[in-house]
Amino acid sequence: MQTSPHKMKSCLKYFTLLFSLYFTEGAFRCDYKYSSKTKTWFKFVSLPANFTDARLRCALEGAVLASPTTPEILAEMRTIINRSYPEYEIFTGIHAIFSPGDFNAIEGTPLSKLPVTWAKNEPDNKGNNERCITLNGNGDLADRRCEETRPYICYHAESGQTEVSQCGIDPEYYLDKRTNKCYKFHTVPRNFSRAFMACAAEGAHLAIINSDLEATVLRDLFGRYGDHTMQGNFRKDYAFIGFHDWGELWDFRTIHGKL
Ligand SMILES: *[C@@H]1O[C@H](CO)[C@@H](O)[C@H](O)[C@H]1NC(C)=O
Ligand SMILES: *[C@@H]1O[C@H](CO)[C@@H](O)[C@H](O)[C@H]1NC(C)=O
Ligand SMILES: *[C@@H]1O[C@H](CO)[C@@H](O)[C@H](O)[C@H]1NC(C)=O
Repeated sequence: MQTSPHKMKSCLKYFTLLFSLYFTEGAFRCDYKYSSKTKTWFKFVSLPANFTDARLRCALEGAVLASPTTPEILAEMRTIINRSYPEYEIFTGIHAIFSPGDFNAIEGTPLSKLPVTWAKNEPDNKGNNERCITLNGNGDLADRRCEETRPYICYHAESGQTEVSQCGIDPEYYLDKRTNKCYKFHTVPRNFSRAFMACAAEGAHLAIINSDLEATVLRDLFGRYGDHTMQGNFRKDYAFIGFHDWGELWDFRTIHGKL
């Protein structure tokens, strides 16, 4: 996975100190909006996703699928919903996927402790299969199947100072001087689609080999990760990079469409 340091920098244009490593008070990601009321970060994702994908995407971005855990966060979530989808429901991080009926926010707060009310005729556990919770602009909850798709909000609690390097906030990215690009090796195994998603969530993309030099850079990076650094039973002698056949057998092109 790779990203250009310049792209990351333009995203952080409000914090243009010319050190390679610097601290910014209250910086998170440029696609998140800071709420001065809650002193935390929110991102509204309008493209509906099922619960699994919504949770994962927020997590990969270093955030959490938002739940109305306090009255202030609830108010902020309602404002965000009303801004774009007044009548609509979004997925929250409240779920009972581990044990039917035991609803908790992802952070662990049980439903009974949350400042929320149910919509009319909810919860109804339709089909005995509704283990995820949505929220609408009125602040009312409803239980829904986790396989359904809804927009959602990712939430990041302010954690004071954030260290930002040329490669962004993820300390696992490092700048390779040879190509002047940032790289990160992911040791968690994922299929191509999930690998693509993980890189995108980090503001990067699957690595593309543009030159012999870059091939060497990637080989060196891979070489630093022995089998013992990767947990699980899978082939550890290859890694996904940004080439795909786009559904046409053996016609491999980069994920940006180039040969
Ligand atoms: C959101 O819109 C609903 C009407 O659709 C309104 O009743 C509610 O007060 C609004 N909430 C906020 C926080 O703006
Ligand atoms: C969620 O959607 C993804 C595709 O984006 C799919 O692969 C996955 O099986 C779905 N999961 C559930 C639980 O519906
Ligand atoms: C990729 O993995 C995810 C989750 O592990 C799964 O839902 C999805 O169906 C897989 N996609 C393919 C194309 O195998």
